[in-house]
Amino acid sequence: MAVARGEFSSRFGFLMAATGSAVGLGNIWGFPTNAASNGGAAFLIAYLILTFALAYPALMAELIIGRHARANAVTALKSISTGPKSRWLGLTVGFIGMLTVSFILSFYAIVSGWMIAFFFDSIARLLGLESASQWLTLDAVPRNAIFVVVFMVVTVMIVSAGVKDGIERWASRLMPSLVIILVLLTIYVLTLPGAMDGVRAYLVPDFSRIADPQLLVDAMGQAFFSLSLGVGTMLVYGSYISEKENLPFIGTLVALLDVGIAVLAGLLILPAMYVALSNGVEIFDETGAFIAGPGLIVSVLPALFETMGVAGIFVAMAFFILMTIASLTSSISMLEVPVAYAVEQHGIGRHQASLSIAAVITVISLLVVFYFDPLFDLVVTYTTEFSQPMLALFFCVFVAWIWNRNEVLEELKKGCPDAESGLFWKIWPFYVKFICPIAILLVYFQ
Ligand code: PFF
Repeated sequence: MAVARGEFSSRFGFLMAATGSAVGLGNIWGFPTNAASNGGAAFLIAYLILTFALAYPALMAELIIGRHARANAVTALKSISTGPKSRWLGLTVGFIGMLTVSFILSFYAIVSGWMIAFFFDSIARLLGLESASQWLTLDAVPRNAIFVVVFMVVTVMIVSAGVKDGIERWASRLMPSLVIILVLLTIYVLTLPGAMDGVRAYLVPDFSRIADPQLLVDAMGQAFFSLSLGVGTMLVYGSYISEKENLPFIGTLVALLDVGIAVLAGLLILPAMYVALSNGVEIFDETGAFIAGPGLIVSVLPALFETMGVAGIFVAMAFFILMTIASLTSSISMLEVPVAYAVEQHGIGRHQASLSIAAVITVISLLVVFYFDPLFDLVVTYTTEFSQPMLALFFCVFVAWIWNRNEVLEELKKGCPDAESGLFWKIWPFYVKFICPIAILLVYFQ
C-alpha cells in the first residue's frame, strides 16, 4: 500500500539523525573500553583503518540502496533484486536485519535504562533523598524493568511523531547538546590528578597487539556496531535523504563525526578511570584486566563521582544525561527499521506500528532483565559479533554483485553530477565487490 513517505528537511537534519544513530553507547562506552583492553592506540589505529576501509564502504552501500529505493530495508533489497533467487535473498537479509536490530534494541534499552536510573540518582543525591538513591543504584530486577519501560516509552514517542517532526527534530536538538556536554566533561576530567596516566594508557600504542586476531575482531565489531551497519538503519535513513545530496560526501561526514566522537570519548573515559584509580577506586579486575563491562559504567564511574564531593553530583548528572542522549538518538533509529516496514508494507499507521513493535521489543527486553545471566551476553554476542558483520557483507554483495551497476551510478549522480569521474567511483565499486566481503569473512573466521 502506498503511504506518503517522510524526508529529512535539510542536510543538517540528516546529519544529526544519522550521527545520532551512529553515536551511542558504542562510542562512549564500547570504544574506550575496547581500546583500554586492546593495547590503547594500537586498537585506535586498527579501528580507524577498519572504519574507513570496511565500514565506510558498507555504510555507503546502505545509503545508496536506501535513497534509490525510497523504502524500508526489506522492500528496498527486493526492489534492487534481479531474479527470484536474489529477491529471496533480499527478503531474508531484510528480515534478519529487522530481527537483529530489534534484539539489539532489547539489550540497548536495558543499558540505557541504567543510565536514566543513574541520572535520577544524581538528582536524588542533590536533594538528599538517601533511600531513593539507594533504590536507583541497586542492580535489581524491578528497577531495571521500570527503566526499560521508561526508555522505550520515550523512544516510541519520538518515532511515532514521524521522520521530520520526531526523529529529525529530536536528533537536531539532542546531538549538539551531546557534543557540548562531552567536550565540557572531557576538559574537566583532564584537569584532575591522575588523568594524564589515562591519556598515556590511551594514546601510547602497544604495537605488539596490532596483529592480534582478537584486536582485529573487536575493532571490526566496534566499527560495524558504531556505524549502525547491517541492520537496515542507515538504509532507512538513506531513504529519507533528498536527491539533491551528494551521498559520498555526507556519508564521509557521518563516519568522521562518529569516529571523532568515539576518539573524544576515549579522552574522557580512560582519564576518568585513572582519576578514579588515583582516588583509590579499583579499576582492574582480579585478572589484572580493566573493568570494562557493565561494571565500568555502573560501579567504577559512580564510585569516582562519589569521591568528588558535591562537584561529583553535577559531573554524574552531566555524564548520565550524555549517555541517555547518546542512547536515545540510537534507539530511535533502531525502532524506525521495523516501523518503516510495518507502515509501508502493511499499511499500519505510524503511531500504532511504533507502539505495537516497541511493546514486543519491550517484552523481549524484560525477559532479558529477568534471565539476565544467560541471556544478556548471548543476545549481545549474536547480534553484534555474528549477525551485524554478516549482514553488512550481504549489503555489499547486493550493491556490487546483484544490483545493476548503471543504476548505482545514476543514483550517485543525482546529488553529484560528475560522480563518474570522481575518486569515489574509481575505488568504491571494486572495494565493495571484493575487498569488503573478503576482509569481513577473514576477520569473521578469526
Ligand atoms: N551505533 C550505535 C552505538 O554505537 O551505540 C549502536 C547501534 C545503533 C547499532 C543503531 C545498530 C543500530 F541499528
